[in-house]
Amino acid sequence: MPRVKRRELMSKRVLGYVNWHRGRKFVHRREILDLITTDVAEQAPDHIAVTGDLVNLGLPEEFVRAAEWLRRLGPPHRVTAIPGNHDAYVRLHPELGTDHWQPFMEANEAGAALFPTPDTLFPFVRRFGNVAIVATSSAIPTMPFIAAGKIGSLQRDFLGAALDELARAGLFRVVLIHHPPLRHQAGWHRGLRDAGKFTRVLRQHGAELVLHGHSHAQSVHELPTATGTALIVGVPSASEAVEGRIPAARYNAYTIARTGAGWQVEMVGRAVGDGQVVECERRVLKAS
Ligand SMILES: [Fe+2]
Repeated sequence: MPRVKRRELMSKRVLGYVNWHRGRKFVHRREILDLITTDVAEQAPDHIAVTGDLVNLGLPEEFVRAAEWLRRLGPPHRVTAIPGNHDAYVRLHPELGTDHWQPFMEANEAGAALFPTPDTLFPFVRRFGNVAIVATSSAIPTMPFIAAGKIGSLQRDFLGAALDELARAGLFRVVLIHHPPLRHQAGWHRGLRDAGKFTRVLRQHGAELVLHGHSHAQSVHELPTATGTALIVGVPSASEAVEGRIPAARYNAYTIARTGAGWQVEMVGRAVGDGQVVECERRVLKAS
């Protein structure tokens, strides 16, 4: 967290700032994030997906620092990011905010050839061989103490069309969304406002893997869809210290392979424990 000027604490930020000093700064720690970042680099994955949040109060300097961190993870063609609710904490001119992350938040050539990015900027599609990422944004500015999100009807329509296009190409479809997408996963204050409608899009058009953040907890759900089972996975924060009720910092590594009938996904969880990052879970998941 950078130093905060008094005038920057207008509006919702003042409450967030008090919140930060009362607890979050003890929980979210730079040295924990650095452990995770170094371990990800050592594992050398083909691609890295970041599902937000990347900032806390939405100060312009935080967006710059988050962009620096994204560049440390890897070059934009190997890292895809989407915003979270904190990343839309206050209404900010895009050039002071998420514009800094633009190279990580846009289609690649192969993805745009299948599904050109609409004017809404989301969803955008990136394709890497047999895998396609469909990145959505559920980030909306909200009232204080509300961490809710929304995809909206325009993005939902585009998402359905993109998923159809990628299915026709026979690709493994990975949907990125910050908020947990199932209705029971979060309440009104923290949840996705159009979770029911979003889930209906997934059911109708299908997806193989849906990755989300926000809940700071590991979770795996299966959603039956028109094209088979969609795996829905939530991951803990990447900067959370071990103390407290909330799980320690973690990330998941996925290995995706085509099988006769569909796809096999192996998920390996790596988490911070005792000042180092260790494998904490290894599990084969089936998507079809
Ligand atoms: Fe969040």
